[in-house]
Amino acid sequence: MKGVILAGGSGTRLYPTTQVINKHFVPIYDKPMIYYPMSVMMMLKIRDVALVVNPQDKAGFERLFGHGEKLGMHIEYLVQQKPNGLAEGLVLAEDFIGEDSICYMLGDNIFFGHDLPNVLGKAKAEVEGNGGAYVFAYPVKDPERFGIVAFNDRGEVQSIEEKPKEPKSNWAVVGLYFYDKHAVKVAKGVKPSERGEVEITSVNEAYLRGGKLKVGLLGRGFAWFDAGTYDSFIETSEFVATLEKRTGLMISCLEEIAYKNGWISIKELMEIAEELKNTDYGEYLKEVIEDAL
Ligand code: G1P
Repeated sequence: MKGVILAGGSGTRLYPTTQVINKHFVPIYDKPMIYYPMSVMMMLKIRDVALVVNPQDKAGFERLFGHGEKLGMHIEYLVQQKPNGLAEGLVLAEDFIGEDSICYMLGDNIFFGHDLPNVLGKAKAEVEGNGGAYVFAYPVKDPERFGIVAFNDRGEVQSIEEKPKEPKSNWAVVGLYFYDKHAVKVAKGVKPSERGEVEITSVNEAYLRGGKLKVGLLGRGFAWFDAGTYDSFIETSEFVATLEKRTGLMISCLEEIAYKNGWISIKELMEIAEELKNTDYGEYLKEVIEDAL
């Protein structure tokens, strides 16, 4: 399976900040936002990842991640000229994806949960083994803002709608999707919605109509944030800070995950810790190294 993270967008809700900096570089507590979705890919052992980026931000992403060498990964960049909607990321990634299955993530979605690797790992295995699409739903108080999935009495998926004015449930579809190799073709057939965007919800709807959509529930015990406003930045940052300070464990420390995945050696980890010395991030890497020795 390959990974695609959508990290473009205009970020108008975060103006004036995002007039000069892409929102995925803005920190959520102690690291850039983009680290969080990248860590999910790595947790799922997805080593080939493409980032869909704006033309003006490509160089910044390259400075941050290179081509993934330091993480033992292969990272590439696909330029989206204009934010035409979430389904477009799949179309841009056509050559990158080839005949593979895909984990598609929105770059501003942040997940936390003890059982997350297990729950997401099952969805990955299901799509790799049996095809189709697998998405997740999370209960929210403001369902008008999201893609919403509704179930019938037997718990089967009945409908999936983008930002419904009269939501049929409060289960929001989170920005993390697993698809078989047909997703690109499906995305190519999507017509723009009323807001003029090719919606990822239309892709999911097509899988639903074909009887090939599975929906997992992320209920209690999971945290999901989509950081698109200043308030959500603060809330998510506070959440991360509270957990990290209490446990002494860093959330989404990419080099730690790369090392634990066996993608980089202890020597490589030591070199990175040395580069980042005198920072909290570097100090944390030193602790990881000490624990490993
Ligand atoms: C997008 C999707 C929506 C999904 C949400 C999750 O919304 O269109 O279906 O529930 O991400 O973050 P947008 O961020 O474009 O408003």
